[in-house]
Amino acid sequence: MSYRELLASATEELERADVPSPRVDAEWLLAHALGVSRTELYANGFRSLTPERERLFRELVDRRASREPLAYVLGEWGFRRLVLRVDPRVLIPRPETEALVERCLELLADHLEPRVLDIGVGSGAIALAIADEHPGARVVATDNSPGALALAEENRARTGLSGRVELVRGELFAGLDGPFDLIVSNPPYVKSGEIDALEPEVARFEPREALVAHGATEAIAKQALPRLVPGGPLVLETADGEAPNVAALLAGLGYDGVEIGEDLAGRERVVDGRAPR
Ligand SMILES: C[S@@+](CC[C@H](N)C(=O)[O-])C[C@H]1O[C@@H](n2cnc3c(N)ncnc32)[C@H](O)[C@@H]1O
Repeated sequence: MSYRELLASATEELERADVPSPRVDAEWLLAHALGVSRTELYANGFRSLTPERERLFRELVDRRASREPLAYVLGEWGFRRLVLRVDPRVLIPRPETEALVERCLELLADHLEPRVLDIGVGSGAIALAIADEHPGARVVATDNSPGALALAEENRARTGLSGRVELVRGELFAGLDGPFDLIVSNPPYVKSGEIDALEPEVARFEPREALVAHGATEAIAKQALPRLVPGGPLVLETADGEAPNVAALLAGLGYDGVEIGEDLAGRERVVDGRAPR
């Protein structure tokens, strides 16, 4: 079969499985099986695959048709300027988290060598992107999941940022006294009763401990306060619809200048406030 014919049949299989973007996903998977970029597929649309690569492609399509997330099937995912390895040990980095990083970089713009703490590092997305885009930043990043830390370590080596990102295993702030110039977190914020209503990619494949942890946002907001320099910001990602509640939580705890920020889709997903001076 030519690339075109394979793409058409894979798109149909993914459509039947209710995959939300069947054609685009089929293109990603074919490009991955061939080791080329998506645009290169079109330049070579009438070529055919070796039997070995065709078998690999069909395996990848079957995995996606089982609703395994595209990022896990590909084994890597783009986040800001980085390409990170991802697998079921970690949450797949999201576009709204890119907005969280953007806000951190804005808040750090006047600092030459800021000390930054990321709580719940997962794949390393936030910590590594901040270190990558702020050349003076020194980032400490923690997680209580050994699997997540192992993958974050791999991504740290892969991105060449080992010298500026320290990884620590532990519960929230355990052993981390600071003070820090900025603390950031994308904490687990899905309510346990809501998980089964999420799309199968999330509910069946992403790590539950990365999605659900009752009270994590509140615990982080409380414990960050004594670990920030006076005026230092805490920057939190929130669930869709929760930003006003998280803003009220920060104001109630004594944070100053609490602000709500939007992601690129215009949804309120980022809240920050500063430790009192
Ligand atoms: C929503 S994920 C965020 C991952 C990554 N920072 C990102 O934005 O893509 C939350 C992370 O917090 C970690 N986590 C959950 N509870 C924790 C705790 N009590 N202490 C430390 N890390 C925790 C999970 O293992 C998971 O990696």
